[in-house]
Amino acid sequence: MISLTTHPALKTLEKSFSPSPLSPINDPLLIQHGIELWLKRDDLLHPIISGNKWRKLKYSLNDALKLGKDTIISMGGAHSNHLHALAFTGKLLNIKTHGFIRGEQPEKLTGTLKDLQDWGMQLSYISRSAYRELRHYHDRFSLPGLKPNEYWLPEGGSSVLALQGVDELVKEIDQPYDLLCAPCGTGATLAGLINATPNNTSILGFAALKNASFLMNDVNALLPAPHFNWQINLNYHFGGFAKTKPELFEFIKRFTEITGIVLEPIYTGKMMYAIYDLISKHTFTPGKRIIAIHTGGLQGLRGFNE
Ligand SMILES: Cc1ncc(COP(=O)(O)O)c(C=O)c1O
Repeated sequence: MISLTTHPALKTLEKSFSPSPLSPINDPLLIQHGIELWLKRDDLLHPIISGNKWRKLKYSLNDALKLGKDTIISMGGAHSNHLHALAFTGKLLNIKTHGFIRGEQPEKLTGTLKDLQDWGMQLSYISRSAYRELRHYHDRFSLPGLKPNEYWLPEGGSSVLALQGVDELVKEIDQPYDLLCAPCGTGATLAGLINATPNNTSILGFAALKNASFLMNDVNALLPAPHFNWQINLNYHFGGFAKTKPELFEFIKRFTEITGIVLEPIYTGKMMYAIYDLISKHTFTPGKRIIAIHTGGLQGLRGFNE
């Protein structure tokens, strides 16, 4: 049985967080189609531990702290938002962190890797095949060779405990809505939204990667009970994970000019492009209120200028 009462160290840390407001998107294009679009600004939660990262990390960290673990081991790429948030949180909480990084050490460290190093995360560069192998270990104790003081956190912080943190996000939404949208990497955030939302609300995920039909199984595997009010749209990956096209950047530029809200092109940017595109194709009935989650990850923007 996992205890969900919050560890005092996390309570203290959370005091430094800002609220994640719900912002209306005042865009003539949306008014024209009679759709109300709102963004849940999880990007504003914390300058570094931003977005869904915190939601997914919170209860795994809580679990690790309560079990008396002093080291958290996880995995990610050279621009990983997840490892970035984990390394910083580990430093604040005085927990050691160890990241398995996909691929060889680059000659020049990415901004993300540099931060990880500066914040004291131990980095182990591993081959792409060894990295894929790590994806088989879903349980916090399942990593082969894990020592008693160590805690394993799967890719993207995806675990059943991530759902508890996302539940808090949903509870913060204080107005009715017809559709809740989120970008998907591992699908854990989407699973949390599905789990926390009544069955009469629709949930729509947008895959950030290509050929991502496996996400349906992964989301179902995280859900404690089946739900039938959700879908994942696989059509807006722009060529694959972290791949982009000029029209995506043009969309983001216009969106930021109109709203003042910054998007990154890997997750939230693709989702917002998709929502606008679906609205322009009259996919949603006029009068609908859509809430999309800004999942943060703005540190990843550096990867496009390095
Ligand atoms: C900024 C951002 N948004 C969305 C996602 C996707 O979240 P999930 O892996 O829970 O589907 C990630 C990856 O974790 C992310 O870094």
